[in-house]
Amino acid sequence: MGFQEVFGAPPEASGQAPGRVNLLGEHTDYQEGYVLPTPLPLFTRVEAGRAAGRVEAYSEELKEVRARPLSAEPMGDFLDYLLGVVWALRAAGHPVEGARFYVRSEVPMGSGLSSSAALEVAALKALRALYRLPLSDQDLALLAHKAEVEYVGVRCGVMDQMVAALGRPGQALFLDTQSLAHELLPLPPGVRVVALDLGLRRRLGEAGYNERRAEAEEAARRLRVRALRDVADLCLVETLPPPLDRRARHIVSENLRVLRGVEALRRGDARALGELMVQSHHSLARDYEVSLPGLDQLVEEALRAGAYGAKLTGAGFGGAVVALVPEGAWAGFETRLKEAFPGLKVLG
Ligand code: GLA
Repeated sequence: MGFQEVFGAPPEASGQAPGRVNLLGEHTDYQEGYVLPTPLPLFTRVEAGRAAGRVEAYSEELKEVRARPLSAEPMGDFLDYLLGVVWALRAAGHPVEGARFYVRSEVPMGSGLSSSAALEVAALKALRALYRLPLSDQDLALLAHKAEVEYVGVRCGVMDQMVAALGRPGQALFLDTQSLAHELLPLPPGVRVVALDLGLRRRLGEAGYNERRAEAEEAARRLRVRALRDVADLCLVETLPPPLDRRARHIVSENLRVLRGVEALRRGDARALGELMVQSHHSLARDYEVSLPGLDQLVEEALRAGAYGAKLTGAGFGGAVVALVPEGAWAGFETRLKEAFPGLKVLG
């Protein structure tokens, strides 16, 4: 199948965007903090053509066509993301009359590897070309974020859309989510960054995510700061009642870990970066309480198999682990992990 077979005409434009893992800076982006994601070499590719008054799409993975008018409400399927980006462009005043899309994705869905941001940004790149819109990659990231929050209805931070739009393979994106200042930093030489996906689909992830967001907001309110990003002194969090003290301790210490991770990247120090990833995982598990036993076991086994560092990536409550593995340990690492976890997918 291809665009022509599904829609009876050739595509007029195309776009692509990658999935991601996050090295450091988990659950900081909705408190104006720092993040350090890097793209995976797995892409969502979209071909597009014009369609008046509606959005239509065929997904090669789901093998189905979906179509709805521009005024349609979200329905909980993949078309929501495409309707969402068209809605966001129109809301910003861009003359987009509708579109049809052919979608192929290598990014697994529901694994915490940011398949939705990859789809949104790939579709926006295709729409930018199709309608010749004067938009930068950062504009596309912000439109994708608006689509996800205001149309699809997921209250995420801006990390995933920014790395899908601005990330480059082999580089980490150091992003300040308060100012949106960002910098691409090369990953250390001689290491691989991989996602370990056990197929732990995120259950109750959205409810848990929103609960953590609310707790973080409450902690910021009690500490009288606009966002926990503005708390520099870790001692201050000890004045909060539990569990707000633990939640704030994670966010404040995680921001410091990103800054230290950036210094490690500037020195090309993969071991130091790996240690910070392990600390991040422990903080996510103990203080933020978003890990699962399966993710903790995967992290421990990855470290025993020679990884410099490993941690859950994304929101948690399921999803995947990111590991930083020295090239020299690679062959043994993969064999050992696949033996310990039959069915494990090693991506990247
Ligand atoms: C999800 C959200 C991001 C971020 C992470 C946790 O991936 O989409 O904005 O909050 O969780 O770091």
